[in-house]
Amino acid sequence: MPEPADHSSFADPLNIDHLKASLRTRAFGQVLRYTPSTTSTNADALLALQQPSATPTPHGSVFLTECQTAGRGRRGRTWHSPPQGNIYTSVIVLPAPGTTRVGPWLSWIPLFAALATADALVAATGLPISVKWPNDLLVERKKIGGILCEQTSRPDKTIAVVIGIGLNINAPLDSFPEELKAGATTLAAEAGRLVDRAALLTELFLRLEQRLDGLLTDGPTGMIDEYTQRCSTLGKTVRVSLEQERIVEGVAESIGPDGCLRIRVSSDSAQPPSPSLLEVRSAEVVHLRG
Ligand code: BTN
Repeated sequence: MPEPADHSSFADPLNIDHLKASLRTRAFGQVLRYTPSTTSTNADALLALQQPSATPTPHGSVFLTECQTAGRGRRGRTWHSPPQGNIYTSVIVLPAPGTTRVGPWLSWIPLFAALATADALVAATGLPISVKWPNDLLVERKKIGGILCEQTSRPDKTIAVVIGIGLNINAPLDSFPEELKAGATTLAAEAGRLVDRAALLTELFLRLEQRLDGLLTDGPTGMIDEYTQRCSTLGKTVRVSLEQERIVEGVAESIGPDGCLRIRVSSDSAQPPSPSLLEVRSAEVVHLRG
């Protein structure tokens, strides 16, 4: 596999000065807090948002690490975060000053973050990256990354969102625990070469900034089609686990106006059965067929 020109390895610690110098963003990454290891970059970002304004965390502030000892995944899971060349980062997103209706904006952030991340992964490798609703990043059927968005209220009562992104990049496949091996992969394994994480992060922060600027200023309408095209859940028969152990199966038909997944229901464990078109906002989704 090719190595960088200076003969270091892409699994070596990130060169943060080089990363900062290569940023092409206005806000994303301009405040960048790097630590070689931490519990969770999402936890760090959420904590920073509660600090007094003497330690500012403006829109686009980034937390970045090589290794997490308590990486957080969606639905209370842990995120496997070994110290060998992956990406673990969290970005703080604030509504534009004067934004009055944050609800629609909040519901789209996880989907737009996934779209931006997929854009960056495709730009870096040309691989066929898809998004499993709402924001898992897949190559074919295998997961290459995940996104955990967490919302908090700051001391001044304004809302902030932390977008936490975990990407399996250069870690050896055998570093995955046994239970993850069948369903997970890395960018390097799929691309057949090591991937330059600094270049990928530069692209990621740019794509996130552009997508989220668009969302803040224009709303989601313009990008719903792009999300729909990138989303491999649509058209598939899926099994959805909802609250109170309710299981629904059906075909994922479309994305609703707030980013929900619309499912044409074929079976439903709940009594009485649900309406035939179900709108899902928070659930565990499994692709079955299609
Ligand atoms: C998922 O379950 O698919 C979401 C995983 C999100 C993992 C990332 S890694 C960086 C950030 N910090 C965390 O603790 N979690 C997110």
